[in-house]
Amino acid sequence: MTATLGRQSRPRAAIAERHLRTDRWWVTPLLTFLGLAAFLIYGFVRIFWDADYWVDAHHYLAPFYSPCLSQSCVEGSSHFLGQPFPQLPSWMSPAMIVLILPGGFRATCYYYRKSYYRSYWLSPPACAVPDGHKRYTGETRFPLIFQNVHRYFFYLAVLVAAVLTYDASIAFHGTDGGFGIGLGTVILWINVVCIWAYTLGCHSCRNIVGGRLTHFSKHPVRYRLWTMASRLNARHQMWAWISMFSVMAADAYVWLVSSDVLTDLRIFN
Ligand code: FES
Repeated sequence: MTATLGRQSRPRAAIAERHLRTDRWWVTPLLTFLGLAAFLIYGFVRIFWDADYWVDAHHYLAPFYSPCLSQSCVEGSSHFLGQPFPQLPSWMSPAMIVLILPGGFRATCYYYRKSYYRSYWLSPPACAVPDGHKRYTGETRFPLIFQNVHRYFFYLAVLVAAVLTYDASIAFHGTDGGFGIGLGTVILWINVVCIWAYTLGCHSCRNIVGGRLTHFSKHPVRYRLWTMASRLNARHQMWAWISMFSVMAADAYVWLVSSDVLTDLRIFN
């Protein structure tokens, strides 16, 4: 496919128009551009905010700051992993230490690659629309060859999803210190479900659980896992967007409650 579209392709047929599409092909790349930009702007502001990420009364930890691994973390926000990193310089926040993992996972995701290649790099912006650049070299050379580390980011993303699951578990914390459920607990759990659905639908996950087998019939457990990963994989684009906004919404909710802009709606205790 790459060879056909790339350097070895035959010259384009002599068509005067830049392309022959008459539909509104630019709508999808434009919406993608805006959606990703919204997330990037939120993330940029949030990682430099360096405050309002822990609600001690209900044990809510904002996903952008989880796990909180530095001695700069506010009291109570570091859990079973402790604080292996020292006090950070004033320009750094604990979010910068951990966001490299989910950030790298999403940046190298096959779906996100397609989306930002199209909407930001215009390479190409849509099917049957010419590339915005003169040359196409694909992902076979520096720097894009590094996109192939995606599989390793997948392993790390599973750890991050496990930590977020732990965070959602401790969010069953009542006002009097016992068991309790608030709107924040529900939001954190919805986010965890979306994060798992996105993570386990990864193409690498599908290959890890079901790849390199000659006979599925001899590996029924792996076949079952592969079937489940394939179902999620078929909706990977959808889960990529839903989980991106769910993590932003969960983070923003904890931010607002922690900074006393909102009071957590308590459902039980
Ligand atoms: Fe999207 Fe792996 S392909 S997360």
